[in-house]
Formats: sequence, structure tokens, C-alpha cells
Amino acid sequence: MTASTAATSVSVAPDGIEYAIPSAAKARADLERIVAAAEAFGGSVVVVQGLGFVGAAVCGALAASGRHLVVGVDLPRPESYWKVAKLGSGSVFGSPDPELAAAIAEGVAAGRLFTTTLDEAYALADVIVVDVDLGLDGRAEVALEPFERAIRAAGAHMRDDALLIVETTVPPGTCRTIVLPALEEERRRRGIESAPLLANAYERVMPGAHYLASVRAYPRSYAGLDPVSARGARQFLESFVDAPLRELPDLESAELGKLLENSYRAANIAFIHEWTRLAESIGVDLWSVVDSIRARVGTHDNIRNPGVGVGGYCLTKDSFLAQWGAERLLGSDVRLETTLAALEINALMPLHTFEHARVLAGGELRGRRIALCGVAYLPDVADTRNSPTELLWRELRAAGAEVRVHDPQVVRWAEQPEAIVEQDLARALAGVDGVVLAVRHSGYREVDAERLAELVGAPGWVVDAQNMLGDEDAQRLHAAGWRVSGVGKGHWRAAGYGASA
Ligand SMILES: NC(=O)c1ccc[n+]([C@@H]2O[C@H](COP(=O)([O-])OP(=O)(O)OC[C@H]3O[C@@H](n4cnc5c(N)ncnc54)[C@H](O)[C@@H]3O)[C@@H](O)[C@H]2O)c1
Repeated sequence: MTASTAATSVSVAPDGIEYAIPSAAKARADLERIVAAAEAFGGSVVVVQGLGFVGAAVCGALAASGRHLVVGVDLPRPESYWKVAKLGSGSVFGSPDPELAAAIAEGVAAGRLFTTTLDEAYALADVIVVDVDLGLDGRAEVALEPFERAIRAAGAHMRDDALLIVETTVPPGTCRTIVLPALEEERRRRGIESAPLLANAYERVMPGAHYLASVRAYPRSYAGLDPVSARGARQFLESFVDAPLRELPDLESAELGKLLENSYRAANIAFIHEWTRLAESIGVDLWSVVDSIRARVGTHDNIRNPGVGVGGYCLTKDSFLAQWGAERLLGSDVRLETTLAALEINALMPLHTFEHARVLAGGELRGRRIALCGVAYLPDVADTRNSPTELLWRELRAAGAEVRVHDPQVVRWAEQPEAIVEQDLARALAGVDGVVLAVRHSGYREVDAERLAELVGAPGWVVDAQNMLGDEDAQRLHAAGWRVSGVGKGHWRAAGYGASA
């Protein structure tokens, strides 16, 4: 997109490309093109609200099904317009999955995938899929207002017989007590008295190498406000999901399902953390223990690995959404003690890796040059939201260290814009005192003892928080004058690798 469209401002994508936000006249002209395409298509039109990590992948999966004309809507703000521009021109940011890139490129080229910033697009929809964010406002509140505004925008334009499906993860009670009245009110303003068709079908998409497949191949649960809504949701899901579908009895069950499954994952990670500390204190290699337990497939293979901590948008907030909705929207007095304690443990977990670094640095980090490898919250993705590396970075700097950050996926660290994220590993590691391997990116696979020693130049120290170095690497580094430790690597500690040889 060029700036020739009387732009009011610019939206910069995480890859540094700038997109001019189009004028209202240009946006309207584009929408007319979409309306004409929808009329010519003649089949089902799906409008996806929110083109973030979930919405972009859902657009790709819907377009690839060949059964729908898909229109993605996001806001004309500097922080979000680039998503409209990228997807609308057939590309996607931050996906290592070639299948998703191909689905989006082909969808746009075939005239089956469009994007816009205009809410009038909702009037085209047979199905509106809500994929907007709904997060916390500080640490104690849920930011419902922007979510409700998004629902109202759809309600203000949707056809009377359109089905609105909430995929956004919401506090229990949200669909019935927030979404339904908002839709009813907006529709009534336009003289529509009939109850809206409304369903919840939470997404399970997993960004990464199998991003597109995760939309199509994971089983899905859903529930409708009424039998007609539930049937509509099932038909819609069947049109692009190639996995078992399960209807739950009511909207609250579907809302709770998503929150419970994410809380289960978060609690499992918190649980393994105290065993990590125990294993380190008694000289046990927890990685190999966990691996041996996983052999018991069916009941034990979901046990988590040790690590730096938990990041991302979902596992860091969803347990809180559950508690908040239960109390505030549904009047429950049940306190999710274990679940919320796990959230707290996970939030502080990066301090354990920090402690490894502090010990290896001889108790003093002031003035030390440290390479922090990995900012994304997951291997091989560019998503840095709530990355555990952030707390580690802040603590290292607060202790006076000079921290270089490296990530092969991340060009700009949106949450810490003052941090310069180095792309070149050799430049990041040259001459540092210490290295922290924080994320298991495939780009770090080349880092063995020999490569590390070569890139750093002189013996220093390394904390391996992700089981990236083998026992032989640790032993060789230590013999060469390095101090080495690893999260969950009690046997390295017992072997004295944390001290100078
Ligand atoms: N990221 C994941 O892996 C994942 C997986 C499953 C479910 N979820 C859930 O899906 C939801 C979306 O997550 P995400 O990671 O895609 O969030 P995101 O922040 O990446 O994207 C949300 C998008 O919605 C847009 N938006 C907000 N208000 C809007 C409005 N009124 N109209 C149009 N667009 C609007 C935002 O600008 C943003 O681009 C969340 O509830 C999340 O918990 C996320």
C-alpha cells in the first residue's frame, strides 16, 4: 500500500514495513469492491472480526476450504491496521507455516479473501466470527469495554438471520450477560426484534509450524444460545474443521471449557516448577526423568518440561478470567485457589533462571555483558506477548548487567521497544561474559559446546534453560573453563559444572 491515499497516519508492522492507514473514502471504495465480490460469489459470506494471531489463521482456514467468501475486519489504528494491509495483500506476519502463507495468498488471489476496516462489512455476513482480544485491565480487572464495543459494532450492522460465533476466550457468563444484551440492543435500534443467533465455539489454534493445521485438525467444542444457533455453529465448523465436533449443553459450558483447558495447562507447568527446584537440589536430571515418564502414553505423556516460565496471551490470563466471570457475572463464591496459585508461580518462574545466572556470575551481575537468547514466548514464533524473557531481561538489567537480546524470529520487541533485538547470533554472543539460552528456537540447534565457545570467544558461563546443550557439551565447556548450569539439570550442579574447573 502506498501513502497516496490521503493517509491520516501510518501503521508499522513488526517486520518494520510501514502501511499508510487509508482515508474513509478509500476504505469505502474498497468495501464496494468487496460487496460486489460477495454478490458475485453467491455463497456463504463469513466476516471475521479481529485479524490477530487467531483471526488471521481462521481467515486462512476458511478461505482454503473454498466454501466461503471471507472478509477480515480490524481497526484502522496504528497498532492494528498493518494486519488489514498484510492479510488483504495476501501475506501473513510471523507464521513459520508455509501452508498458512499459501492459504492466504491463494485466497486473496482467487478473490475469496478480503479485508477492511469498516464495520458495514458485518452486513454482508451469514456468519460473523468474533476473534478480538479480551484481556486484563491491570492485574485485577477484565477489560470488557473494548470487547463489548466490538460486539456492538457487529450488532449494529448484522443481518437479522446472521449467526454470531464467539471464538474469543471469555469469562464465564459473558455470552449470555454481555454479548446477548448488547446484540439485542443494537438490533432493536434498527427495528430487529427477533433474538439473535449466537454461539460460542472457542478456538484452539496453536501458532507455530502447524498453525493452519491446528485450526482444521483440532477437535472443537461449541454451544448455542438455542438449538438453531447450535445447529448453525455445527454446520459452520463442519465446513472447514476436519476433526470431531462436540456440542456442549449451554454457552456457559463452552466458555468454561476453554478456561479450564488452559488453566489445566498452566497448572501443569506450575506443578513441574517445584520438582525442577527439587531435582536441582538433589542432583537429578529432571529432563530425562520427565522423558522417561512420558513413555507411559495415555495417562502420563502430557507431563511438562522444566523451563523459563509461561508466556503468551492465553495461559497468563485465562485462569483469572474464569475467577472473574464466575464471581462478577455469575455470582459464584467459589475461589479457584490452586488455579490462581499456579498463575502466580508461573508469573515469577523466570526469577529461577535469573538466579542461575546470578550464581554463575559469582553473585554479581553489575557490569556483566550477557546475551539473552530468545524473546518469543514459544519456539519458532514471533509472538512476544507476556514472554517470560521479559521479567528475566528486567531483572538482569536491574542487577546492573548489560544485556544483549537475540531472537531469530523477532525484529522488534513490541513490549520492550527500547531493547534492540539482534538478529545475528555471532554479533550477539561475541565477547559476552554470560549466555542465557531461554527459548528453544530451531535457529539455536547449531549451538553446541564448540560453536558456543567459538562465538563467545573466551570462556564464560552459560545457563541452559531449555535442554539445548547435551551432557557432553556441558562437560566439554566446563573442561574448557566455562561455568555451566541448566534449569532442571541437577546432575550438572552435582558434577560441579557451575564452578570454575
Ligand atoms: N493466540 C493464541 O494462540 C490463541 C489461541 C486460542 C484462543 N485465543 C484467544 O483468541 C482471542 C484473540 O487472540 P489473538 O491472539 O488473536 O489476539 P490479538 O490481540 O493478536 O488479535 C486481536 C485483534 O482484534 C482486533 N480488534 C479489537 N477490537 C476490534 C474491533 N472492534 N473490530 C475489529 N477488530 C478488533 C485487534 O486490533 C487485534 O488485531 C483471545 O481471546 C485469545 O485468548 C488465542
